[in-house]
Amino acid sequence: MQSLRGKVAIVTGGSRGIGLAIARALVHDGVQVAVTGRSAAHLSAARPKIEAAGPGKVETLQADVRKHDEVTRAVDATVARFGGLDILVNNAGVGIFADVAAMAPEQWSEVLDTNLTGVYYACHAALPHLKKRGGGFIINISSLAGKNPFTQGAAYCASKAGLNAFSEALMQEVRYDNIRVSYVMPGSVATGFSSGDEQKGVDWKISPDDVAEVVLDLLRLDSRSLASRVELRPSKPKKS
Ligand SMILES: NC(=O)c1ccc[n+]([C@@H]2O[C@H](COP(=O)([O-])OP(=O)(O)OC[C@H]3O[C@@H](n4cnc5c(N)ncnc54)[C@H](OP(=O)(O)O)[C@@H]3O)[C@@H](O)[C@H]2O)c1
Repeated sequence: MQSLRGKVAIVTGGSRGIGLAIARALVHDGVQVAVTGRSAAHLSAARPKIEAAGPGKVETLQADVRKHDEVTRAVDATVARFGGLDILVNNAGVGIFADVAAMAPEQWSEVLDTNLTGVYYACHAALPHLKKRGGGFIINISSLAGKNPFTQGAAYCASKAGLNAFSEALMQEVRYDNIRVSYVMPGSVATGFSSGDEQKGVDWKISPDDVAEVVLDLLRLDSRSLASRVELRPSKPKKS
């Protein structure tokens, strides 16, 4: 099992939910972690929660993944602060659920720009730094929605299906540079993602900490092996 102590990571959308849990787990294992988000208030509230997981150090950076220049600045700031980059976790994501006929073009763009184009921006900015270190890891937080489409999910499901294809193409592209690309496809996770209520369904949904544990397991896997795709489900989903 590989030790992660001293590595440097960026977690996009690390101020709440799954990203926050991943950032805490990394810091707990001695990783220096930069988390990004849109809201300065959410980042400020998250910072002490991540620091408390110590010993790794923490940086918070306001950066919208939909904006190429902000993403590049965040990656560069992380490298300047911690001296390099080993791990990129593309977690930031949004869901807007509506029939296609009712979905406004701006809503379509918000979902695709965040969940798919934002991942490209972050990978594009991070790859030269990962290569400079002689290798690293990219973990993309996708969703089972990427392979199980549902009504009112056209934008979200398409963004995650696109992310799955992006991840597999990138995996093949950079594996010989010692960069391993994995994507995790959770089912329902107990966060404020769709309802705004982190407690809703907490009795049956996946815990954000369980997603974080999967991410840490991927990062610790011996370098000869690559778990490229992980499906993670609630063991007993609510019966409809
Ligand atoms: N919850 C689920 O059931 C579930 C299931 C499968 C997959 N996922 C995926 O898991 C990921 C995290 O979801 P979650 O449930 O943790 O959601 P969440 O609780 O709503 O948290 C989303 C995080 O992403 C950030 N974010 C959103 N848009 C951003 C942008 N444009 N630029 C930078 N940061 C942005 C948010 O920052 P602000 O606070 O600044 O908005 C927040 O930190 C998403 O990719 C989602 O699709 C979730």
